[in-house]
Parts: sequence; structure tokens; C-alpha cells
Amino acid sequence: MSEHIYVSKHPLIQHKLALLRSRMTEPKKFRELVREISQLIFYEATLDLALAPLTIETPLGNSSGHEVVEDIGLMPILRAGLGMADAILDLLPIGHVWHLGIYRDHSTLEPITYYNKISEYNPNIDLAIVLDPMLATGGSAIAAVDILKSYGIRRIKFLGLIAAPEGVNALSNVHPDVPIHLAAIDSHLNEVGYIVPGLGDAGDRQFGTGG
Ligand code: PRP
Ligand code: URA
Repeated sequence: MSEHIYVSKHPLIQHKLALLRSRMTEPKKFRELVREISQLIFYEATLDLALAPLTIETPLGNSSGHEVVEDIGLMPILRAGLGMADAILDLLPIGHVWHLGIYRDHSTLEPITYYNKISEYNPNIDLAIVLDPMLATGGSAIAAVDILKSYGIRRIKFLGLIAAPEGVNALSNVHPDVPIHLAAIDSHLNEVGYIVPGLGDAGDRQFGTGG
């Protein structure tokens, strides 16, 4: 496996992922779990953020400390990436959020982009992070990275929860410079492009729109 593909072995992530996959998990709990796992993966994926030294006055004197000096853009892929963005913003309140609306055409599985907020607000940033719980064929993630690169953004990471090997291969073949951070890589895609065993439809399960 490429050195740019990170699958967390953290016990808390693995424990919460099992709950997330369960068909018995209702939307409220599902959203909580997406939130918690996203924060844990984000923590692992940002070990390399740049810091600058600073001095802080404590009640007892001066202390040396550090601050994160990177300007970070989050690109959640709608709908399912929304819960991840909310969770990460709690840890990174200074992050910019560039919503990207993409859905998969049901017959071709090709990504269709219908909303792109980066075109209206594009500060100079140091790092962009694409957020989507599911990396299935990889089409949506590749489209998101294509868009970021078309705006001149070069340092990009992908954060997901569950991937199919097909999606990991596709994203890392097209964009080998983009690290992929995940909680699991599953067995395969089924004939209609769902990850097996996966968790079903991540958007429907977060927002209660499934059958
Ligand atoms: C799902 C998921 C990803 C995409 C992954 O979105 O949230 O965005 O599929 O599949 P891919 O890797 O094959 O592109 P979906 O198309 O169901 O849109 P929705 O969340 O708006 O329902
Ligand atoms: N999108 C999902 O929500 N689930 C899958 O298994 C594949 C794509």
C-alpha cells in the first residue's frame, strides 16, 4: 500500500466504526459517530501542521507556547461530508469551508457537480482537506481534488471514513500527491457501486432519507 494511504488502527476509531456500520444505528447516533470518528481521524491527519512559537502570559509569569499558522480550507462533499465539516470546525474554528455539491449519476456512477462555493471565496490557503465519509469509485473525490487544483491549490489531503479498494486505487492513481486518511478499507464495490460491507448510504443514514 502507498505510503500516502493511512488507515487508522486507533481502538476508539475502530470501536466507533463498528457502531456506525450497524444497520440498527439510528440517524441521531449515526451523526454523533460520524462527528466523533471525523474528529479522531482529523487529529491523526494533522500531525504535520506547521507551528510558530509565541509567548503567553499566564497568571504566574510568561510561558513559551505555539500556535498553528496554517490557513486551512475544508471542502465537504455534499451531502455526506457535512457532518464531517461541522465536527472538524469545532477543532479548527479558523477553517474556511468550501461546500461542494456532487452526486453520483445512478446509472453511470459518474460524479455530477451542482454547487461549488470555492468559486466565490478563495483565500490563499496552505492546506485544503476534502471531506467525504465514503470513497467508493473515487469519482467524487477525484472531481473535488481536480477543482481544488484548478484554483492553484497544491497541498491537499482527503479524509474519509470507509473506502473501497477501487476508490483508493483510483484517487491515488490520478492524484498520487494527495494523502488519503481513512478508518477502514473494505472488501469491494457491489454491482451498483456501494461499498461492501460498508454502511449503506452515508447521506441517507445521516439525514434519515433512506427507504
Ligand atoms: C455518496 C458519498 C460520496 C460518493 C462516493 O454521495 O457521500 O460523495 O457517493 O462515491 P464515489 O466514490 O463513487 O464518487 P451520493 O452520490 O450518494 O450523494 P448524496 O450524499 O448527496 O446522496
Ligand atoms: N456512497 C455511499 O453513501 N455509500 C456507498 O457505499 C457508496 C457510495
